[in-house]
Amino acid sequence: MNIAIDGPAGAGKSTIAKLVADKKGFIYVDTGAMYRSIALYIIENGIDVDDDEAVKNACDNIDISLKHVDGIQHVYLNDKDVSTDIRREEVGNMASKAATKKAVRERLLNLQRDIASANDVIMDGRDIGTFVLPNAELKIYLTASVMTRAKRRFDQLTEKGEKPDIDKIAEDIEKRDYQDMHREIAPLKQADDAVYLDTSDLTIDEVVEKIISLA
Ligand code: DC
Repeated sequence: MNIAIDGPAGAGKSTIAKLVADKKGFIYVDTGAMYRSIALYIIENGIDVDDDEAVKNACDNIDISLKHVDGIQHVYLNDKDVSTDIRREEVGNMASKAATKKAVRERLLNLQRDIASANDVIMDGRDIGTFVLPNAELKIYLTASVMTRAKRRFDQLTEKGEKPDIDKIAEDIEKRDYQDMHREIAPLKQADDAVYLDTSDLTIDEVVEKIISLA
């Protein structure tokens, strides 16, 4: 069985998808982590993301693989575990830019489809229900207001001891939403057959229960 979860940055997709995967015994696949790995490679190698030829070359030199240890996804970029490095804010913003490129999307599509065809998966991203897994048995479009998402991110960073600026976080979220929703290839949008779930006023448990019952 394949469950697709799409939605904007910070809607809680990964938190929810991990919990659903645990309860159902499914593999959780975080496709954003794959885009982030390519973004990390672009940053570390000083590649100009708007140089299509250079980005295509980078895609040809990259090996990305996922391993699941105790249900937790680890991402390897050319055999190095980058699971922590890819979480940086700067990497997320570069991932959104790199994700507009044809070579990058083509590079990741088969990897995602192969994992989904061989396993029971819950896969999250931006184009899973619309493009990567159009035949997924269950599709969810998970979202929340910009302010709710900014506040969640603010709380996470504060917990880590950082002193974030909530207006700057909200601005970054809006910028990323716009970029992800307006790109030419596989933009973020709700699939016609996806269930719309706004999590602004729901607890994590409520959302997980709702998805389990739909599944
Ligand atoms: O979900 P995330 O923040 O880790 O994703 C980072 C970026 O990767 C996101 O802004 C757009 C891109 N992405 C995408 O284009 N398609 C996906 N299926 C997943 C992520």
